[in-house]
Amino acid sequence: MAHALTTSRAWAELEAHASRLKPTHLRELFAADDDRFGRFSLEVGDLLADFSKQRITTETLALLQDLWRAAEVTQWTTRLRQGEAINHTEHRAVLHHALRHSGDEPILLEGKDVMPDVRRVLGQMEEFCNRVLSGDWKGASGERIRDVVNIGIGGSDLGGKMASQALSVFHVPEVKVHYVSNLDGAHLATTLAGLHPASTLFIVASKTFTTQETMQNAQSARDWLVRKLGEKAVAHHFVAVSTNHQAVAKFGIAPANVFEFWDWVGGRFSLWSAIGLPFALSVGFANFRRFLAGAEAMDRHFFETPVERNLPALLALLEVWNTNFLGAATRVLLPYTQSLEILVSYLQQLEMESNGKQVDRDGAAVSYATAPILWGESGSNGQHAFYQLIHQGGSLIPCEFLALREADYPLPGHQEKLLANCFAQSEALMRGKTVAEVRAEMHEAGLSAEAIDELSPYRVFPGNQPSTTLLLSRLDPYTLGQLVALYEHKVFALGILWNLNSFDQWGVEYGKQLAHKLLPILEGKAPMAGLDSSTAGLIAACRKK
Ligand code: F6P
Repeated sequence: MAHALTTSRAWAELEAHASRLKPTHLRELFAADDDRFGRFSLEVGDLLADFSKQRITTETLALLQDLWRAAEVTQWTTRLRQGEAINHTEHRAVLHHALRHSGDEPILLEGKDVMPDVRRVLGQMEEFCNRVLSGDWKGASGERIRDVVNIGIGGSDLGGKMASQALSVFHVPEVKVHYVSNLDGAHLATTLAGLHPASTLFIVASKTFTTQETMQNAQSARDWLVRKLGEKAVAHHFVAVSTNHQAVAKFGIAPANVFEFWDWVGGRFSLWSAIGLPFALSVGFANFRRFLAGAEAMDRHFFETPVERNLPALLALLEVWNTNFLGAATRVLLPYTQSLEILVSYLQQLEMESNGKQVDRDGAAVSYATAPILWGESGSNGQHAFYQLIHQGGSLIPCEFLALREADYPLPGHQEKLLANCFAQSEALMRGKTVAEVRAEMHEAGLSAEAIDELSPYRVFPGNQPSTTLLLSRLDPYTLGQLVALYEHKVFALGILWNLNSFDQWGVEYGKQLAHKLLPILEGKAPMAGLDSSTAGLIAACRKK
């Protein structure tokens, strides 16, 4: 069944507009308007977004904004803020913005203000961070903590890992924070190899406290500790972040060492909750509060700004334009800062686990594309790997460049070169290079007519590849908070535009279910019966020692 959105006037007008605009090259759009940058860029807080290299005109934006109104995104934002159970398949509200709310106004869930609980846990986190960083928190043998290992996966890992890596300039000297997620024992073993049990603290981070990877890694870490320091040491070396208190208690972690969060915080939106504890330990709690403040500033912008000047809204609409009207199947994220390398993985979960859906909010099959595949790599590394395909591979690949105006590690000579490369790539992707330009260039270089004929086809660039460039003033806790919240709101808005529930993730369940079935077979405790020949063959090959 077609959703009302695709049968709306705005959708039909966008389709007609897209077929009119498609033959126009970005070069022509720039040639026709000296002030595309002024018209199609926006500064919000510490972020400058230049979307003038998108294949749009003012008419495109106006029509996309009509679509925004037709999808009633603003009304849905009110429902989100009022604590309605908009995650309807799990009967949950979505209130992660409460985690960074600093005002006195209550945030109500079923008539009850959630803010006292939020503040209580923030206070508990702050006290804990201060105790660990001051050396007041002692291990079982009286040593202070030098290493903290966060054990979690997905939303209970990626956010902290990304933020800790992003802000290495702000790292405190007192502790080193490590992240272990993979079920492959190599991850835990190589992390523990250089650590001493007496000065190591583990944070077991799991919303459900049932996730196989996390439970296995936590058990192995516990064994490692107990082997050296005995059973009683667990209380001094393990804390947990979870909503499942019973399971945490069963693992042997005392209630005083549990940091609570709530079912209205989705895993991939949980960095602002106690899931952010390892990140807070890596940069100190004052910086964690600055991070929350940056996100809160972006919340205010998203909640209070009309669509025409609303950055998350515009980024969401441009994604709809590229995906649903120009036909892009992917988007590539290219952060020209090594510090945001893990942002790609973080956003892969945020965007694709949220909006990679085949069924809409009403349970009907969607008849249009949803989340494009997000991929990427830090610039300039990617330039020497896959950019060839973006330039000449023939697919439409919207690019998102992300760069810092001020480098976080200002080594002489680096930053200008980095920015020159970043801007050169978006210019090349926009302009392309025509046969005439290629031939003239080779002629000027003194190549023979035969060589020009032979080589020119290889040197042509079609261009017309759309891109947005996001410039962040600098990378610090406050600006990182703005950036991450920007993407969260974009994801929410896209979910509403596509009529999806962005807050469930049923698609990850099937593989987990089958893994539970295959485990006893791999262990030789259950027969092979009923398996397809491929799965049976692979298991048999692994059981042959
Ligand atoms: O498998 C997907 C998922 O449920 C994610 O949504 C979540 O972030 C991750 O697993 C970890 O879950 P938990 O925090 O419950 O261990």
